[in-house]
Amino acid sequence: MTSLTTTAAWRALAAHAAQMQSRHLRELFAADPARAQRFTLEFDEIYLDYSKQRINAETMTLLLALAEQADINGWIRRMFAGDTINESEGRAVLHVALRADLDEFPKGRSVMAGVREARQKMREFVARVREGKLLGASGQVITDVVNIGIGGSDLGPRLLVQALASELDKAPRVHFVSNVDPAELDAVLAALRPAQTLFVVASKTFTTVETLHNAQRARLWLGDGLAMKAHFAAVTENSAAAREFGVDAELTFPLWDWVGGRFSIWSSVGLSAAIAMGNEHFDAFLEGAHQMDAHFHTAEPGLNLPVVLALMSIWNSNFLGARSHAVLPYSHALRSLPAYLQQLEMESNGKQVDRDGQPLDYTTAPLLWGSSGTVSQHSYHQLLHQGTTSIPVDFIVPLQAPGDAKAQAMLVANALAQGAALMSGTAPGTPPQRATPGNRPSNTLLIERLTPQALGQLIALYEHKVFIQGLIWNINSFDQWGVELGKTIARSLSNGGLPPDMDASTAALL
Ligand code: F6P
Repeated sequence: MTSLTTTAAWRALAAHAAQMQSRHLRELFAADPARAQRFTLEFDEIYLDYSKQRINAETMTLLLALAEQADINGWIRRMFAGDTINESEGRAVLHVALRADLDEFPKGRSVMAGVREARQKMREFVARVREGKLLGASGQVITDVVNIGIGGSDLGPRLLVQALASELDKAPRVHFVSNVDPAELDAVLAALRPAQTLFVVASKTFTTVETLHNAQRARLWLGDGLAMKAHFAAVTENSAAAREFGVDAELTFPLWDWVGGRFSIWSSVGLSAAIAMGNEHFDAFLEGAHQMDAHFHTAEPGLNLPVVLALMSIWNSNFLGARSHAVLPYSHALRSLPAYLQQLEMESNGKQVDRDGQPLDYTTAPLLWGSSGTVSQHSYHQLLHQGTTSIPVDFIVPLQAPGDAKAQAMLVANALAQGAALMSGTAPGTPPQRATPGNRPSNTLLIERLTPQALGQLIALYEHKVFIQGLIWNINSFDQWGVELGKTIARSLSNGGLPPDMDASTAALL
């Protein structure tokens, strides 16, 4: 098999990168003031400015040739057709079905009947809880919902509830517990009353030890006096295990093998978030993602937001040598977005072999990290501006937000200022300790207002970006075998057992 790095498209980009290395972004703007218009894309609620990337028109032509070589259009068609594109697990990849509004999808082997039935069941339950009609075993109204899950069964609903907090009425309150560290569950339970608490155990497999242990502790906390059937719901593909745990079939919401954990926020995994935000908002969230799907499915690569975002990342990491990528939401509401994207990008594309199991001679997913600005400016931005490595940034900036308009304007101004400073740096002749070199690339994503629909668009945008990166790297973005070994060892160490082949360091630590 030909290695990607020996293909004509890759070599042309490598040669071009060698030329571009010596060009400063300031120079690129001076040579082509129109780039601020040309290197922008707009889709409904989202405006992407990628003109502060170290690219010119030729870079885009060469990157698009790389994308074409990877047959991205063919793969997009195959995903939307329900083909088994997650080959190592023998599964289709159909999270787009969860936000589709079609009678039959994909053609010939539709999953829509199950999706509709699950959505309806979820809708009815959400309405009951929000209207105060869900009663605990002693007849008291449920006022608090605790989502117990981890990874994809936690990060999505947690992000949604935080992101839309200003739009939510506060009853019922929704809480999240993911860590097996008892401190997290204990802190949440300290303020709750068993008679008025509902636990939603979200676990696709219903075998994840952290989640099951927390669920068992929650069951104990309820005490003998309360029938657990009235206080537990489950979201899972493994309904038999949920039943065995004691969850009523009526309160068990389905998942399917064709939706990966990190792509599952659109499914019943969104139940706790839907309880907080209401059916109408959750529908709008799905609709936003569906709109982005339609754009992704049909827009030509050069005008396709997820494709362009993926190409910028590939350019930075594979050709300009970036090893990490910062996501900086200038929005307190989006403070958990970096954590969400860490799972989405790094669990999907943190891979070292290609689809055929051959080792790779190029880097895949960069380390993704970040937190909300402006707080980050008073912490690690020093390194972004003057550190020895260049770290590409995504600035994510909702323009309007509820509350003090002056503070919001300052927030937006700071985001734009950081992008400008990273790009241009200080003037020539500035003393070395004070000088910032500039030429540090960034994307700016403006969002008019953080509505449920805009959030759906934003998350779907990053999902498809991850898929395109994986296609170009020729890896399977939909499995995650790397997490298994640690789980197996932890299981035996938690049980006090020491596997016979355990290394001397771990044995001594135990
Ligand atoms: O350990 C990784 C992982 O399998 C993720 O992919 C997943 O989102 C998370 O664990 C939780 O899995 P589950 O929903 O099956 O409990």
